[in-house]
Amino acid sequence: MTNVLLIHGFPFNASLWSDIVPALSGRATVVTPDLPGFGREAPGPDTMEGYAQWVLARMPGRCVVVGHSMGGYIAFALHRLAPDRVQALGLVCTRAGADSPEARAKRFETAQQVVTNGVGVLEQSMLPKLLAPQAPPAMTERVRALIRAATPEGAAPALRAMATRPDSTPALRSIAVPTAVIAGRHDALIPAADAEAMARAIPGARLTWAERSGHVAMIEEPVVVAEAIAALL
Ligand code: MLT
Repeated sequence: MTNVLLIHGFPFNASLWSDIVPALSGRATVVTPDLPGFGREAPGPDTMEGYAQWVLARMPGRCVVVGHSMGGYIAFALHRLAPDRVQALGLVCTRAGADSPEARAKRFETAQQVVTNGVGVLEQSMLPKLLAPQAPPAMTERVRALIRAATPEGAAPALRAMATRPDSTPALRSIAVPTAVIAGRHDALIPAADAEAMARAIPGARLTWAERSGHVAMIEEPVVVAEAIAALL
């Protein structure tokens, strides 16, 4: 059976994917690791390559590699490190570019604030931007709980890894595996133009819009995300 690896974004954990795992698990072996420092995992690396190495060491053979946001940055790093292990790519609410100098400085500042004041800093700065405007309150509370489950020890290294990640744009043209780009129409963190440009640059990539989603489309429109991933199997 095909292996599907679902890599969660920041500052979440593997339960981010819980709505789409049932739809995929009849058709594939689904692996949903907590990244180092999140869920049940102890903190580990603080570079994107380091996270990718960590994931690679736990990956069952070749996989359909699906990354959400920071998970997408890891998927690009993983593809650089071991392209033969990547059977197909799913890029959910993510982008290929690196941080601008301003965004990088802000990430380092946030990492420091998280260490000093806790992950409430992330709840305040991120939660208002994560969901589409029409998201029901229960969905907002679910995402709030996911953020609150993060720890400063896990979040700060991940922020530093995002700040220093390389630009994956030049490598997009050489991606030679089936690729699904899934983008939230109301994503306040990933501009629509970035998702479109990424999909155009990857040969043969298929772009799916989650029309009622913000940045967490697998929670906001799980059926759309599951179907786009299932099409890679
Ligand atoms: C994520 O959802 O993984 C992060 O918000 C991505 C980012 O901040 O660049």
